[in-house]
Amino acid sequence: ASATEAEAKREKRAPPSFINGPLRRAAMKLHTRDQAKEGEQPAQTPFTKWAPGLADFMQFLVDSKHVFETLERCVNETAELKALRGSGLERTAALDRDVRYLLELDPSLSVPPVGQPGRAYAELLLSKLDEGIPVFMNHYYNTYFAHSAGGRMIGRRMCDTLLGGHLLHFYRWEQPDTHTATENHHHHEQGHHASGSGSGDRSVIEGLLAGVREKIDRMALSWTEEEKQKCIDETPNAFRYGGGLLSHLAK
Ligand code: HEM
Repeated sequence: ASATEAEAKREKRAPPSFINGPLRRAAMKLHTRDQAKEGEQPAQTPFTKWAPGLADFMQFLVDSKHVFETLERCVNETAELKALRGSGLERTAALDRDVRYLLELDPSLSVPPVGQPGRAYAELLLSKLDEGIPVFMNHYYNTYFAHSAGGRMIGRRMCDTLLGGHLLHFYRWEQPDTHTATENHHHHEQGHHASGSGSGDRSVIEGLLAGVREKIDRMALSWTEEEKQKCIDETPNAFRYGGGLLSHLAK
């Protein structure tokens, strides 16, 4: 076989995914069995039994905004994370609009200061970025991907019970500007507007996640085994701090 044939063969064999492999497995294990079928933790009160008020939801959104804003600032200010900019997963602008929506809906509400869970997680993120990209990327993965999975299920329920079904922008993803995310352009919906995805359509978010998964896998190719392990071992912290934000709703 010629060298080019061997090369073509090698290219066909996709490298095993780090993110969809050990990183995702580490996260799934930390779910309770009733949260996800791969979960291994003892049951807790399921989120379908949570009954927070509107002010609790507001606090959750304010804390979430602080955390996403911090993540997004880290991505924008760190050269090694340049590939992740403009991914379409960014939530800061959406949360800004949602906080304003809640204020208009109930004028007796006010915007509270960021709560302890939000401040604690934002501080942790900055210190994890100092520890290195692999450790930081665990938080990036868990925060954005959890939000698209369990976070989205919880959010839909909150929007149904507290907002009469008005789905907040936090839970809706739009195709980013195709000039900044050309790799995702084949996911662009045609014939009807691609934005919103407010009716349970997962295709926009699935496309965005697929693009980001690929980018993280490409980053991880340059990590040593030790760095990969450090990334995986950070998962309990992501659950402790990310799960901590849910304490605003778990009442
Ligand atoms: C995935 C539920 C909390 C991280 C999922 C999935 C469900 C779920 C149903 C999809 C499973 C599948 O693909 O088969 C929940 C519920 C939660 C919760 C109900 C809390 C009440 C968390 C927390 C984190 C987290 C606190 C981490 C901070 C993840 C990750 C995935 C996931 C990383 C994989 C997403 C992907 O790779 O696409 N969760 N989860 N989850 N969850 Fe959670």
